[in-house]
Amino acid sequence: MDYKRYVAQHLNVTGVSEEEIAEAIAIPPDTSMGDFALPCFRFAKVLRKSPVMIAEELKAAYPTDEVISEVSAVNGYLNFKVNKKGLADDVLTRISREGKDYGKSSIGNGKTICIDYSSVNIAKPFHIGHLSTTVLGGALYRIFNYLGYRTVGINHLGDYGTQFGKLISAYTRWGDKQLVEEGGIRALNELYVRFHREAEENPALDDEARAYFKKIEEGDKDCNELFEWFKELTLKDVQKIYDLLDIHFDSYAGESFYSDKMQPIVDELRDRGLLVESQGAQIVDLEAYGMSPCIILKSDGSSLYATRDMAAATYRKKTYDFDKCLYVVAYQQNLHFKQFFKVLELMGKEWAKDLVHVAYGMVSLEEGAMSTRKGNVVFLEDVIKKCIEKAYRIIDEKNPSLENKEEVAKKVGVGAVIFGALYNNKIKDITFSYDKVLNFDGETSVYVQYTCARAASVLARAESVPAEYTVPVPCAQEFELLKALGDFPDVVKSAAEKYEPSYVARYCVDVAQKFNKFYFDCKILQAEKEVRDYRLALTAATLTTLENALGLLGIGVPEKM
Ligand code: ARG
Repeated sequence: MDYKRYVAQHLNVTGVSEEEIAEAIAIPPDTSMGDFALPCFRFAKVLRKSPVMIAEELKAAYPTDEVISEVSAVNGYLNFKVNKKGLADDVLTRISREGKDYGKSSIGNGKTICIDYSSVNIAKPFHIGHLSTTVLGGALYRIFNYLGYRTVGINHLGDYGTQFGKLISAYTRWGDKQLVEEGGIRALNELYVRFHREAEENPALDDEARAYFKKIEEGDKDCNELFEWFKELTLKDVQKIYDLLDIHFDSYAGESFYSDKMQPIVDELRDRGLLVESQGAQIVDLEAYGMSPCIILKSDGSSLYATRDMAAATYRKKTYDFDKCLYVVAYQQNLHFKQFFKVLELMGKEWAKDLVHVAYGMVSLEEGAMSTRKGNVVFLEDVIKKCIEKAYRIIDEKNPSLENKEEVAKKVGVGAVIFGALYNNKIKDITFSYDKVLNFDGETSVYVQYTCARAASVLARAESVPAEYTVPVPCAQEFELLKALGDFPDVVKSAAEKYEPSYVARYCVDVAQKFNKFYFDCKILQAEKEVRDYRLALTAATLTTLENALGLLGIGVPEKM
């Protein structure tokens, strides 16, 4: 039963579609007035009436029945109370029928979403700053998939630029094949850092690096082989993290992939008279839109980050025919995206409106800031490993006899890192704290995982969940939990609509809290048979829903903790 839709079908607001009404219906924070509420403020303008009056009139006309038992109008809100037994029946039946698919939808069928995320830079550390893009993008990928969209995950590799000339210069001068092979990104980064240190004394190195870069561009065999090797080493290192975080890509077409796809863009800009020369460079003037110019070609004719992004967007439209193309990139790059989106729009690409910059805030560690150049970076791999170790120590202390402690610690530690990055509204800057993300009683994944283990243990002790049971009128604790469970499909949809996986993370904590309240206030296994059976079904439904929700974030659930 989709209650919002059901209510919307029974309401008649002139000039407002059923869809719009259903969308406007929300679960009020204080549910003593109603289980759902329709704020009537938004209709005041169309109807030329006060919200209070609209609510009153809608109330008078509403036909209550066995689904909606009570309607009231309060301060411009129309409140609905649902038939509790009906809701309980409905939610439990649906979850047990749909199981792993509970929350899925087909609203995205036939539509494609490209998601550009994680987008690592070759030979550069994969650091804590890449955490958000990776887990946010990964969650959006799964969420859109869940809603039936075709999703294309793209790792827009940072594999173009003079820094690769520097790296070749450094490797040729000081590199050791075996050390680099074994050291991966760390070894490459050390070479890069050394290059900068030495170039400060010896500026000739910069010329050498430029020459090497030119050789890469001209297709020099040796230089390109080295470069491909750096790429391979980087991706091999990064893959370890992707495996831990359960992250997948459908394409690794990076910046260099567009080297030969930029000329048509430049030509088109010129043909349309959008390109102007400024201090030798070719730019698109965006003053009329309150932005600094978008630089397309430098004075030496070389391309820029924006030029490559324009070629990439065009290629993606042609290749995938996306309905939306998301860029999960930090807000530091706001201007960059605004600029090249605008330029594509000025070029008459009607699909430019479907490009979305999903901006997010900074993640810093309690220890403080970092810089790639100077070499003092916090590798994401180290953060995850440390979290797993800490999780192990906590678990070992709490439950020394637990089997598979390592497996459990991995799920808890990885979950903590992911959840820590996803719990807040994505645009907020966050400070990552190990103690905070591993707090068993906090708003954390481990709290949710622990709740799942608790539910699983109840079910294990019951041995089986009865297929048949009678649903009574639920008590307050049961009803709050049931309503929350029933809300899951809507939560997934809103998370997708707002590009906000935090909705799912918060939802997990909310459901876990409601389950724990139910668990501590109501007897389950000790209850009389009829009540026991139904409460076991409710426990199973909670576990299914939480597993599905955590799964969307890339977090696994240990059976025992
Ligand atoms: N590699 C870039 C960086 O680390 C992010 C790329 C984002 N994607 C894009 N299409 N610009 O800043």
